[in-house]
Order: sequence, then structure tokens, then C-alpha cells
Amino acid sequence: MKNIIITIDGHSACGKSTLAKSLASKLNYLYIDSGAMYRAVSLFFKRSDLISRNYELKNGFQKALDNVSIDFSDANIDGKNFVTLNKEIVEDEIRNIEISNLVSHVSKNSLVRKKMVAIQQSYGLKSNVVMDGRDIGSVVFPNATIKLWVTASVEKRAYRRWLEYQNKGESILLKKVIENLTFRDKNDENRTESPLVRPLNSIEINNTSLNAAETLENALILIKKHLEN
Ligand code: DC
Repeated sequence: MKNIIITIDGHSACGKSTLAKSLASKLNYLYIDSGAMYRAVSLFFKRSDLISRNYELKNGFQKALDNVSIDFSDANIDGKNFVTLNKEIVEDEIRNIEISNLVSHVSKNSLVRKKMVAIQQSYGLKSNVVMDGRDIGSVVFPNATIKLWVTASVEKRAYRRWLEYQNKGESILLKKVIENLTFRDKNDENRTESPLVRPLNSIEINNTSLNAAETLENALILIKKHLEN
């Protein structure tokens, strides 16, 4: 039987991961955070000193990439799994500002993308999957069972991210968060390799005025309707 694949794409901080995680846990599907995979490769290149000061990948990165193995740990009780780099859980190391900066550059590389896409597609052969990212419905699974496109205004996305920083005790101006998101949106939309586009036949969920629970409820209604047809 063909596995059910739910793809969730959208701009940075639109609530994709929160939605993907809760959907996977509710439906008991495998959750794959494709952004975490690009972050883990970036960590590998950083540790191997393969990124130059101007963010170019250094000679030899191709060969090194052959030795990179990215996977996810088994899910714990809340359905959360952790990205692994060569069997080491690196979830904490990839969520800092340095990796956030590096990953924008590393994820533009076509060899890196080719390798990550192949791994991502392999999960779809093993299990029902909810996967979130930027090119999941357009490139990784163009024939997915259901494709969601999550949007929210840049002000609302920035405000949510700003609140997260506040809760972690990091003080930053809201204006700076808006600037950072606008920069990342542009980068994602304009890169040559797999730019962020709304996937064909995707269903939009605009969550500017919805909280996480309401977004999940909307998505579950859409998915139920879709699977019944
Ligand atoms: O979702 P995130 O912010 O953790 O993603 C990290 C980076 O990886 C972000 O710069 C966009 C990139 N990315 C990508 O190019 N393709 C994906 N499928 C997922 C993320």
C-alpha cells in the first residue's frame, strides 16, 4: 500500500514545524523536519572547517559529504524525534544563531540538496510521513497525498519569533527580527536551487489570526476531507 505523505511548506517562522509535529503526533505518522537536516550538514561542515569566512564551501567538501550520515532518533513519548549527524544527536547544537546563518548558504548547494532530498524521499518509502520545509511539496514529494502551504504576515511571524527569544531570555528588537525574516524570505525565494515556491495543488492555511491549536484543527479538517474523497 502506498504511504500517506503530508507536506508542509512555507516561509520561515510561519508555524510549519509546530503544525507538522502536532499533526504527526495526532495521526501517528513519522515527523521529518527537513530544515534540521540542512542544519546538521552545516554543523558537520563547520566542525570540519569546510566553510570559508565568506561562507563558501571549501575544496574537499564534496568528498566529505560522502561521509555524512543524517537520520532521526526514534520518537520519544511526545512524538518528537531528534536529528542525528553520524549517529550523534545534534538537536541542541543546530539551533543557534551561528548555524542559522551558515545554513542559508549551505542549503543553496546543489550536491547538498541532492543528498538531503534522496534521504527525505527514502522516509516516504518506509512510513506515513509529515515533512515540513521549503521544497517538500514542489521537489521532494510532488505527488504527495496532501500538500499544505502555510502563510502568515511577516509582522505576525516576527512577533511570534520575538516572543520565543524573550522566553529564552534573549533580548532583541522586534524590528531586527522583522529584518532577519525579510532577508531569509528573499534568500529562500530567490536562490537558484529549489527556491521556495507555493507547490502546485497545495492548500493554503493562513494562520495570521490563528493560534497553534486552531491551525492544527483547520489542518485536520482539511486532511480528513481530502482523505475521504
Ligand atoms: O526550517 P529551518 O529554519 O530550520 O530551515 C533551516 C534552513 O534550511 C533555512 O535557511 C532554509 C533551509 N531549508 C531548505 O533550503 N529546504 C528545506 N526543505 C528546509 C530548509
